[in-house]
This record gives sequence, structure tokens and C-alpha cells, in this order.
Amino acid sequence: MSGIGNKFQQETKYEPNRIPRHSLVWETKPALYKEYPEAHKIELVCFEPSQPMSLDRALKQRKSIRDFEQKPISKGQLSYLLWASTGIQRIEDGYEFRTAPSAGALYPIETYVVVNDVRKLEVGVYHYCIRTHQLEQLKPGKFRQEITTAALGQGMCARAAAVFIWTAVFERCKWKYGQRAYRYIYLDAGHIAENLALAAVSINLGSCEVGALYDDQVNAILGIDGIKESVLCMAVVGATI
Ligand SMILES: Cc1cc2nc3c(=O)[nH]c(=O)nc-3n(C[C@H](O)[C@H](O)[C@H](O)COP(=O)(O)O)c2cc1C
Repeated sequence: MSGIGNKFQQETKYEPNRIPRHSLVWETKPALYKEYPEAHKIELVCFEPSQPMSLDRALKQRKSIRDFEQKPISKGQLSYLLWASTGIQRIEDGYEFRTAPSAGALYPIETYVVVNDVRKLEVGVYHYCIRTHQLEQLKPGKFRQEITTAALGQGMCARAAAVFIWTAVFERCKWKYGQRAYRYIYLDAGHIAENLALAAVSINLGSCEVGALYDDQVNAILGIDGIKESVLCMAVVGATI
């Protein structure tokens, strides 16, 4: 069967007589967290929804929202969405586990945010420091237009209060799973994206996932190389009309 996708699916299959076995080289295990030590850090206050919504209601209400009221979301709401999508949720035997599951607990996904309109937060590009639950400011300034252009001109990126961008640091997962890691990496991102969608509904915000994007344009906004780390998908978030 031709086509890179078909080939990938076949060549990364597990079969009873074909499970790659290699011993893990612990000395080369990639770091679990990406951090920007030089970046200006913004503390994220803890935010507890005042009227928690049941999971059943959130599941019934979730749908893709592409139009938003032109008003800011709060820093607390952004903090909650970051935590709910991928934040640290428990520590067991000294290991930090997160709100979304991850194949082998290798956590290859990084989260960035283009802030368009969040109260008490400068517009710009930020990285979410998961370990400390802080934002790291990467680039101040307006990125509404650039992120919209990078999303094939989808205007919801300009109308949204914030655009979440998920990337993968591929080696974190490839270190253990080789080429099969790509399956798990995309699945990991999907879990995080759905956490965000449900968390947004639960605090009366709307969201929509964005898979149509020019990879290298988004990578350039984030300042990542597109090889070791690359964008996978994004999601817009804002106040519902
Ligand atoms: C991986 C993925 C990528 C998507 N990319 C886009 C996109 O680029 N633009 C868009 O308008 N919607 C996008 N969507 C949203 C889908 O169009 C939407 O989920 C689908 O129509 C079902 O509608 P619902 O989410 O309201 O239930 C994407 C959804 C997923 C899961």
C-alpha cells in the first residue's frame, strides 16, 4: 500500500511476534518539562469554579464555538483551563501525574498560549510552565493577525480571547516507543484537547479545536524548530455570545 500514512500504520503495528524490545537507556531519558529560565514569569492564581458543572452536563453542552463575545476572559479562567487541560493533579511515589493520561507517563506535549484578551495579562505569546503552574512570557505584543494567518485565515483565532497551541517534543516519547511514539503523541494531544473543551464548557466559555494550520508559521510564532518540537494542533477559547 502506498502513501506515507498507510505505510506508517502498517510499520508501527504491534503483533504477537513483533513487539520491539530494547532496554531503556535511563541516562538519555529526555527531561519531562520544558522551561524558559530567562522568561518573565506570571503567577497563575488558583481558580475554583464557583458553581461546578456536572460531567454529564458538560458532555451534553460541549460543541465547537467559533464566535465569541468581544470581552476578556479572566486570568483565573485561563489558569483553570491550563490546569484542567494538562496541569499536575497528583504525586505518587515522587512522580508528578497530570489531569490527562499519557502513554508511559512521558508527557510529550507542551502548551503555549497566544493571549489576545485576558484581564490583567499583557497580550502576547506565552509558554505554560506545568511544573510551577506559571506562564512564561515569550513574546509581548499583538499576535491576533499572525495566528489567524497561520490558521489558514480562520477568523475565530482573532475573535478568541486566547489561542491554546499544543506542540510535541517528540524525543520524550520516541525514547521509549520509537516510531510507534507518533501514535501515542497524537493521542496524548487529543486527550488534552478534550480536557480543555470540557473544562471550558464547565466555566461557561466556548472553544473550538483547530487542526487546519500552517505548521511552520505556527512554529515560527513560538520560536521552535519544527523538527525536535513541532505544533500538533490548537484550540480557541472565549466568552460565548
Ligand atoms: C482534530 C480536530 C481538528 C479540527 N480542526 C478544525 C478547524 O481547523 N477549524 C474548525 O472550524 N473546526 C475544527 N474542528 C472542529 C470540528 O469541525 C468539530 O468538532 C466537528 O464539526 C463536530 O462538531 P462539534 O465539535 O460542535 O460537536 C476540529 C476538530 C478536531 C477534533
